[in-house]
Amino acid sequence: MEWERIRKRPEDRLGANLADYDEYARTFSWAQARAELDGLPGGGLNIAHEAIDRHILAGRGNKLALRWIGRNDELRDFSYAGLGAAANRFANVLAERGVSKGDRVFSLLGRVPELYAAALGTLKRACVFSPLFSAFGPEPIKARMAIGNAKVLLTTEAFYRRKVEPWRQELASLEHVFLIDCSNNLPPGTTDLGAVMAAASDSFETVWTGPEDMALLHFTSGTTGRPKGAVHVHEAVVAHHMTGRLALDLHADDIFWCTADPGWITGTSYGIIAPLTNGATLIVDQAEFDAERWYRILQEQKVAIWYTAPTAIRMLMKVGAEIAKRYDLSKLRFMASVGEPLNPEGVVWGVEAFGKPFHDNWWQTETGGIMIANYPSMDVKPGSMGRPLPGITAGIIERTAGEVREIARPMAMGELALRPGWPSMMRGYLNEEERYKKCFASGWYLTGDLAMRDSDGYYWFVGRSDDVIKSAGHLIGPFEVESALMEHPAVAEVGVIGVPDPTAGEVVKAFVALKNGIDPTEALRKNLLGHARQRLGPAVAPKDIAFRQNLPKTRSGKIMRRLLKARELGLPEGDISTLESEER
Ligand code: PRX
Repeated sequence: MEWERIRKRPEDRLGANLADYDEYARTFSWAQARAELDGLPGGGLNIAHEAIDRHILAGRGNKLALRWIGRNDELRDFSYAGLGAAANRFANVLAERGVSKGDRVFSLLGRVPELYAAALGTLKRACVFSPLFSAFGPEPIKARMAIGNAKVLLTTEAFYRRKVEPWRQELASLEHVFLIDCSNNLPPGTTDLGAVMAAASDSFETVWTGPEDMALLHFTSGTTGRPKGAVHVHEAVVAHHMTGRLALDLHADDIFWCTADPGWITGTSYGIIAPLTNGATLIVDQAEFDAERWYRILQEQKVAIWYTAPTAIRMLMKVGAEIAKRYDLSKLRFMASVGEPLNPEGVVWGVEAFGKPFHDNWWQTETGGIMIANYPSMDVKPGSMGRPLPGITAGIIERTAGEVREIARPMAMGELALRPGWPSMMRGYLNEEERYKKCFASGWYLTGDLAMRDSDGYYWFVGRSDDVIKSAGHLIGPFEVESALMEHPAVAEVGVIGVPDPTAGEVVKAFVALKNGIDPTEALRKNLLGHARQRLGPAVAPKDIAFRQNLPKTRSGKIMRRLLKARELGLPEGDISTLESEER
């Protein structure tokens, strides 16, 4: 079905940071964008300085930086000066323990105030911040902390006991574990963060960092192998700042709510950095999704800009547009969405419920910031991700026998590619030079997404070119799930795919072949589901497991997930020339 274009009116351009896309894109330069930030003496740059200290130095220290809403509706407010003081305390806690430049500080926390102070304090101390998703189980946590050479972990006592303590001795690099929400009976080898923060000084001079010094380590997954740690540097702040301004239309007076979990990159780039560099006020809600609660927050906090995700939008759609109309959402100016395909129905539903569309935008852990977006001043074509940010060159390319060719024809499907050179591009996958190199060809960064571009320059997402799974906006590597199931003594072979789900986009499904002589009973299926959940955590574990006598494999023994998926969905099997003969 053709969806009608949502036309923007002249008043939509009024006051918008990007009032005229074509004009802005023509004159934009990253050097100019960089000049809007302070930097540090001698050509240095530090994300936390730009997010916090720059405002304090300019006399804006009293402004509200962060309002935290607890599960039971308690509020905690942090001015820029207050958040800066908390960050300084954390930086001092690190310094007192000899944690220094380049050391890796991991967090395993939900949306709690300590996380924000720790992220900024880590950056002020010139250490590297690496947030983990709190719904991960012990395996994904251990794998990421080992790859990242974690020196410090910040978590809760409950998470620590369940997800870290059982394997802690295996990770020699981990020297300090700070706990929040802890009892009087601290586990051995841990420190009560509250106590040491209270004792630390609230002044700290940011340690000098260069623009190319590592600042953030965000994990992502591929089709095969271990998780990949995408390395981001302090220079990324230039892109966070500008994309926040242009794609999210952040102004200094705005109240901004990013619903992404801080355990994923959106929760850092746009849940911490971009709103603060732009001098806005950030809303953080500790609680999980609840439609009424969310509308209440939008109303009570007078949210102007709301950055959310398709799964949440679909959950709101389920409850109905009528509820939205009961709330005064007159302050809400701009709504954006990211992370997974936003169905055109979702965009249009925004107009029905809020009187304005959701603006889809596209990016990846690797790109560090928004690359393609719909802007307040530009017509929305429901179902399209929009047009590349000023300063970003995108293309649709075709790879054939090692050759890369750009396809100019409108609406031709190919791989979405970007010309490298923007500030928040990853600088590598940590210790994985080969995998990093594979992302580039003929001067393009290859995204792994399939897309099309229409004759107006709007991009349309088609799908992934690999086997990674997007469930509720979370990227899941099938290999990580397969590895956990393979550890079970009954399992001979596993293939993991994503199957469509009306709310979460996709959910994880595993196909398992059992060892000889083991019966595929319902009890065993439940046992396997429990095993996976215990090891991987609810965000990654399969929602469903099906037994198969054999799994389709190539002659070299690789399980053909693509074929499992085609069969599951009743789609054509495509090219099966590499399938092992007895499997046909
Ligand atoms: O496949 C694309 C999908 O999410 C992938 C990136 O996932 P991750 O690294 O977890 O990104 C975190 C920051 C957003 C992309 O390769 N994706 C992201 N945005 C969209 C999307 N798919 C469709 N439409 C989008 N707007």
